[in-house]
Amino acid sequence: MTHILAIETSCDETSAAVVRDGRDVVSSVVASQIELHREYGGVFPEMASRQHVIAITPVIRESLRRAEMALADIDAVAVVHGPGLAGSLLVGLNAAKALAYGAGLPLVGVNHIEAHIYANWIRSDPDGEVAPVAPAFPLVCLIVSGGHTELVHVTGHHEYRWLGGTVDDAAGEAFDKVARLLGLGYPGGPLIERAAAKGNPQAYDLPSSLRVAPYDFSFSGLKTAVLRQVQEVQRSQGTDVTNRGVRLADASIAPGQVDMPVADLAASFQYAAVEILAEKTVAAAAEYGATQIVLAGGVAANKALRVRLAELAPVPVRFPPIRYCTDNAAMVGIAAHYRFVAGLRSGLDLDVQPALLLVAER
Ligand code: KG4
Ligand code: ZN
Repeated sequence: MTHILAIETSCDETSAAVVRDGRDVVSSVVASQIELHREYGGVFPEMASRQHVIAITPVIRESLRRAEMALADIDAVAVVHGPGLAGSLLVGLNAAKALAYGAGLPLVGVNHIEAHIYANWIRSDPDGEVAPVAPAFPLVCLIVSGGHTELVHVTGHHEYRWLGGTVDDAAGEAFDKVARLLGLGYPGGPLIERAAAKGNPQAYDLPSSLRVAPYDFSFSGLKTAVLRQVQEVQRSQGTDVTNRGVRLADASIAPGQVDMPVADLAASFQYAAVEILAEKTVAAAAEYGATQIVLAGGVAANKALRVRLAELAPVPVRFPPIRYCTDNAAMVGIAAHYRFVAGLRSGLDLDVQPALLLVAER
């Protein structure tokens, strides 16, 4: 049996986990900073790294305590070294190095995007069975998170071919920005999803940009289309037009503006975003002969996306349980296992790589 202690601090979650044999989560601790960043409407990098400094040791201790293990029972220490916020990554990386050095354990550096993909390999966790059968290659994976939107063809462990990605905002970033515009709050994805459940997805015809390569995505036009609709509604009501002339990223209608059809706008935005993500993923799976479609990253928590992909796909679609879609160290330990058994190790000179890519050749 192989036990890996994994650490994740790339953005705003301080997380540690113990995983067994690359499939079973023995313990998983996630300390969220959402409350801390809420008043800024997004992650405030310096506060994120300082909060990691405070939380990292208790979180690691708690992951070992819940696993009923000591460092002597661990075979390797895994850590995300990129991509992510430099100051946040540094905290987890230095903690992992200290543990590896102090306990004489190998260190395995993990790419955060690869870790999201490997969340699909989880067989069980302390709550019980998750997915008995591991994903089969070749597969097409759509990784959609707050920082990334990538479509990759995966032919084996660590064998990636990059098919496309976003040319502007990441999918989760678009959800977050539209949620802020609609006065829904932070983080936007789950709030858009909740508002959309009460709205009509056909209420507004919001265009998704098709002027990008077949497997690339663009969300900035869709985001601007939502702002234009908001302004249109306000003009028709004779109310003040929201944030005329300011950058969309800073635009927001007054929270609780009662005459704004927020549910219909959220539903129409979600529909357009989901449609383009699902269509391109299914087309890629067909072109590359994938036996499965795998969904990963925070936006993979979105039920509309899961349902639409399953409707369109000619092959099985799989996705991790919601708690493993957003950032967590369990997925890091799972990904690290397949590196560890392949003999891949990192030196104690491993540096953070804030812009680390999953696939260098594009
Ligand atoms: O993977 P993640 O935790 O962090 C990054 O690596 O970026 O993803 C966070 C992103 C946020 O943008 C959040 O709004 C989005 O995932 N998200 C969702 C949902 N839950 C989280 N987007 C759409 N629907 C959801 N239910
Ligand atoms: Zn992530």
